[in-house]
Order: sequence, then structure tokens, then C-alpha cells
Amino acid sequence: MPKPEIRTFKNLEGLSRGAAEEFVALAQQRLAGGTSFSAALSGGSTPKRFYELLATKEFSSQVSWPLVDLFQVDERCVPPDDARSNYRMIREAMLDAVPEARFHRMAAEQSDRDAAARDYARSLCETLGTRAGNWPQLDVIYLGMGGDGHTASLFPGTAVLNERTLSVAPNYVAKLDMWRLTLTLPVLNAASQIVFLVAGAEKAEMVSRVLAGGSPEASQYPAQLVRPEHGSVTWYVDEAAAQRL
Ligand code: 6PG
Repeated sequence: MPKPEIRTFKNLEGLSRGAAEEFVALAQQRLAGGTSFSAALSGGSTPKRFYELLATKEFSSQVSWPLVDLFQVDERCVPPDDARSNYRMIREAMLDAVPEARFHRMAAEQSDRDAAARDYARSLCETLGTRAGNWPQLDVIYLGMGGDGHTASLFPGTAVLNERTLSVAPNYVAKLDMWRLTLTLPVLNAASQIVFLVAGAEKAEMVSRVLAGGSPEASQYPAQLVRPEHGSVTWYVDEAAAQRL
């Protein structure tokens, strides 16, 4: 995999606008040559402004939303209207204004988390037309990163980091005392493009450590394990998060 590209922006607004511009360009490029565009969206707080901008007329009018399949990278195991729900954040920031997008929600509130993971994996593979034995290949996956180096719901020291069979898996995060559903590393590493969106001074140390590289096999920083075999990785960071680079 080639070295990650790093795009630095003055602040979160600039980073979010840059990400929205690139999303539109990617969607137009993909739809110029095909009939679908697939993206997986993370939760948390960083991407909210990016999603809000995508929903504005300035950007939304440039995307053929009925041909766009949007998936979730991960979800907290809470009801979809819970304040902690990633779906709720994405819905309020974007989907309410762009109802024509084909959004595939992770039903992480289901009591049978294994069944919910299987159902979502099936939906992902069916939508993308994944051939048996292959990993579902998304056009682009938008990831965040926690101060501990986690990404998606792949937290340091958790079992799901070693998952090499399932595309979607439940993961109990002891430090949050919370269950999550998450795309697994093989799916992240099958993507055509990975875009990390990271902002804030509190992330600067970890951004520096993760981008310094090192032996990913021994990595205690899951974000460092995101190394698409045939895809690219681009980091969108603000100046505060880039200050240790
Ligand atoms: C989640 C996210 C998670 C997030 C990081 C960064 O469910 O919380 O998917 O991986 O991207 O925790 O979160 P912030 O953007 O809020 O810093």
C-alpha cells in the first residue's frame, strides 16, 4: 500500500468542506462509469459537519442520490432514537434532508447481536454484488479515530481485531461498558478508498504515532491496521490534530 496522503485544513469547517467536495467528486467519477456508488459512514462527532454540508443544496444537488448506497461503519447497541446512536446523528445531520439516498441502517438495537451482524453483512454483500468467498468492497469508507487509536468500533485489545471470517461483528468494549456492531478489518482493507477524518489537539499525539507507522502486526493502535490491499488511504486533519507531524 502506498504511503497515506495527508490533507491538512485550518479547522474542522475547512476539513468538512474538503471532505464534502471530495465525496461529490468521487460520486460523480464513480457514477460516470457505473450505476452505483457505495460509501460507509462513521459516527462520533467529527464527521457531523461533513454530513451536514453534504445535505446542503450546494453539495446535495451535485449527487445522484438514488444511485448512492450509504452504509454504517459501526453502531452502538442502543435504540435508533437514542442520543448515543450513530444512526440518529447521521439522520439528523443528513438523511432527513436527503431522503432519496439508499441508507442501510445497522439494527444494532436487536437483542440477538450475532443475528443483527449476519443480517447486515448479508445486506452489504447483496447490495454490492459480492461474489461468494470475497470481502464486500466499498468505494469509500469514512473513518474517525479515537485518542486511543481505535477506529470504527475496533478498540485496542478487543477480540474483533482478529476477526478474519465475519464482515460485520459484535464487539464488547469494556472501557465503555458497551456493545457495538462494527465492520471488521478485512472489509476496511478491501475498500477502494479509506478517508480518515480527524480533528482537534487531543488527537495530535495519536495521529503522529499512527502515521509514524511501525510493525502493524504488533500494533496496539487499530487505526494503524487499516492498510487496504488495493486501495488508498487519505487523512483529512485540521491543523490542531496535525501539530505533531
Ligand atoms: C463511534 C465511531 C468511532 C469514532 C471515533 C472518533 O461509533 O464512536 O465510529 O470510531 O469515529 O471514536 O470519534 P470522534 O469523531 O467523536 O472523536
